[in-house]
Amino acid sequence: MVPGSRAPGIVQLLDYGRDPLGFLSRQQRRFGDVFAIHFPYFGRIVYVAEPGLVKELFTADPAVFHAGEANATVLEPALGPNSVLTLDDGPHLRQRKLLLPPFHGERVERYGELILEITRGEMESWPVGEPFALRPHTQRITLAVIMRAVFGVHDEGRLARFGGLIDDFARRVGLVASIPPLRRDLGRLSPWGRFVRSRRALDAFIYEEIALRRAEAETAERDDVLSLLLGARDEEGEPMSDRELRDEMVTVLGAGHETTATGLAWAIERLTHNPDVLAKLRNSLAAGEEDYLAATVRETLRARPVIVDVGRKLTAPATIGGHQLRAGSFVLAAIAALHYREDTFPEPEAFRPERFLEAKPDNYAWIPFGGGTRRCIGAAFAEYEMRTILREFVERADLRAADPKPEKVKIRNITLVPAKGARVVLGRPLTYPAVGSASAVA
Ligand code: HEM
Repeated sequence: MVPGSRAPGIVQLLDYGRDPLGFLSRQQRRFGDVFAIHFPYFGRIVYVAEPGLVKELFTADPAVFHAGEANATVLEPALGPNSVLTLDDGPHLRQRKLLLPPFHGERVERYGELILEITRGEMESWPVGEPFALRPHTQRITLAVIMRAVFGVHDEGRLARFGGLIDDFARRVGLVASIPPLRRDLGRLSPWGRFVRSRRALDAFIYEEIALRRAEAETAERDDVLSLLLGARDEEGEPMSDRELRDEMVTVLGAGHETTATGLAWAIERLTHNPDVLAKLRNSLAAGEEDYLAATVRETLRARPVIVDVGRKLTAPATIGGHQLRAGSFVLAAIAALHYREDTFPEPEAFRPERFLEAKPDNYAWIPFGGGTRRCIGAAFAEYEMRTILREFVERADLRAADPKPEKVKIRNITLVPAKGARVVLGRPLTYPAVGSASAVA
């Protein structure tokens, strides 16, 4: 028996909702490094919250520990059956191999200028001297980056239409993703009816974009991810079908913009509530150093992991941490609990980028991007994007917290966001980088 609370599922769910960041740590302290929780509908879920056990989970046979099946319970209505997130085994590997090259560390750096241009445009809309929530701004930036760098849409009219469709889709998807019983057609106005209509409209736009791109002679010259995927071939020399392309592009859209926007909002929330760290970051950037910036991004993703857990579903009986589990069991790595272990991250409540200055983070102790053969494909892209935008914010904007109290953590879809959207005040007008300065050429 895996130890765990005997409270009814609904009580455990409410407990999670009240404090989504602390919930898993509390279970781990009470029941140990392997524990079970119960949630309505999803039933019993087994968690591991110790680096050695996480290694066991991430390096286990992927044919037995299915991530796609586990993800599909929540994500399939949005992403479809051909997504790298919802597939397993051979088909997963095929999609993963096709998707990896465009997101390779060095390749993503070519989007630097575009990311800066979008960030600068958005910063112009910040009010001076009055509180505002930063998260909607970071979300507009990361959304524009996905639409332009990943989808390769640049025409203003099409960008506006695409943005509207994504907005509508994002508003409809949360409910049907997190409450599976709602996935029934109860008419046009039911949550499912609205969601399906919204998905159809978004899909139509994406298929249109694919067709336009196929018709363009100079696609080979483009460096957006969609164009690269159109040219990609698997080991048999086969291209991706339009349906596969649709599912992967919606996957990248869903996995890649809210997550990064939230990570950025948390970075500013943590920095403005830790002014000494903010000053240190500013000074290090002024001295032309990059390491403290990278460490700040990593410490943000440790202290406020955007995603609290990653799961695998067993296709056959298996053992984890010495516990025998039945086929069909869900086993998850408790990211939020792992990042708050006193033995791996001393004084875990403190926001201290220095932890990441000396050494590369351990693959099984710091896991904001999951791990093993399922590790986030966009990790290098996300960290690069966060560094680029954060540098611009810190160098040019005199930001302070609107409220001295740290913001509470709230669940939004499946991510953890600052409850008030990272409210800040811009003390004085933005400064402008001298032409040729570090940030102008970053
Ligand atoms: C701070 C930002 C991000 C966070 C915290 C994050 C986190 C994660 C996590 C936890 C997983 C699951 C890994 C596992 O099951 O072990 C994942 C998978 C994935 N992410 Fe991200 N992600 C971020 C940004 C991005 C971006 C920018 C993209 C693409 C542009 C992206 C694309 C993907 C894809 C395609 C997968 C599926 C990988 C697979 O199943 O093989 N993510 N991400």
